[in-house]
Amino acid sequence: MKGFYGEFGGQFVAETLIPVLDELDKSFELLKCDKDFNDKLNDLLKNYAGRPTPIYYAENMSKKYGCKVYFKREDLLHTGAHKINNSLGQALLAKKMGKKRIIAETGAGQHGVATATVAALLNLKCTVYMGSIDAKRQSMNVKRMKMLGAEVKVVDEGTKTLKDAVSAALREWVSSCNTTHYVLGSALGPYPFPKIVSHFQSVIGKESREYFENLGIMPDYIIACVGGGSNAIGVFKGFLDVESVRLVGVEAGGISDKDGEHAARMSFGKKGIFQGSLSYVLTDKSGQISNVHSVSAGLDYAGVGPEHSFLKEIKRCEYHYARDKEALDGCLELCKLEGILPALESSHAVGYFIKNASKFKDKTILINLSGRGDKDLEIILENMEGTI
Ligand SMILES: Cc1ncc(COP(=O)(O)O)c(C=O)c1O
Repeated sequence: MKGFYGEFGGQFVAETLIPVLDELDKSFELLKCDKDFNDKLNDLLKNYAGRPTPIYYAENMSKKYGCKVYFKREDLLHTGAHKINNSLGQALLAKKMGKKRIIAETGAGQHGVATATVAALLNLKCTVYMGSIDAKRQSMNVKRMKMLGAEVKVVDEGTKTLKDAVSAALREWVSSCNTTHYVLGSALGPYPFPKIVSHFQSVIGKESREYFENLGIMPDYIIACVGGGSNAIGVFKGFLDVESVRLVGVEAGGISDKDGEHAARMSFGKKGIFQGSLSYVLTDKSGQISNVHSVSAGLDYAGVGPEHSFLKEIKRCEYHYARDKEALDGCLELCKLEGILPALESSHAVGYFIKNASKFKDKTILINLSGRGDKDLEIILENMEGTI
């Protein structure tokens, strides 16, 4: 069925948005095969954003843990995270569709910064919605967005985090969709967004596949953190057809398994409709969307992209979680062993690897380093006082 991954996905939105989503789908399908569009996008990805990103063999970490660990360095991209891949693609799409303005939601601020950046580049007006808790814990990114000329609308409702920013952006889009494109930041929401975002992020998997093909080997495992799911789907896409490669998504395990203290949708969630699509979602005893918690603003979300739910259902990908503490430990270990400060989101993938290192003995592992950790310094220092 169009717009579904198995039973997941769909378009569960206000009726007024259906024609807008259909128009977006049509434009995307035309442009994704258009030579001029792809030439422009590829030029910007290369010369503006810094693609291809390197794959780094982490010798110190490999020695310590008795396996071969590689990192895909999305943290080296302009603006510091994989989010720029999608923002560039969607902003170009918006321009081609004749839109003059873009809006976005952001949790960790990286998608907001990436969207504000491409708006400046392409001369588009830009508004970014951000929950007030996220705006406080990622205040440097709020300042960056404002410097880039974007308007930042702080959302002081609900849990004051990513979910409320997505709701506010969707609400605004209903009334402004004639002039405005909503640059959704992850592989979630109503169709065709999961498809569009995963297409623009698939460059991560494509480059990774080429790298390992050139080496003449395939990784045994690929590990990526999962917030909405865009960096993970981007890297997984390059290997879905290689059965020997095990694909591991790592969610935020927060501080405990208790409802409200984590964001592990795949482990504790139920199938449900949330923010435009059917997927796994965390709900409380009365069926309301649960409060969620993660030390990283980018993983602090009650839903997950529908394609991930499908990949879990068909058992092509496995999903686990790392606790806040394990992510913080992973972050510090990568700093100390390799001189790389990862984003707290990416640190969940690193933390999961370290906690389960014995399982990976003698294996080849690719960890997707979705972003760099400068934005998280204060949170890391607050949480690790005395250990640094
Ligand atoms: C660096 C980084 N990694 C990962 C994520 C999670 O998003 P996604 O699951 O869409 O990759 C975010 C979200 O803000 C992020 O900033």
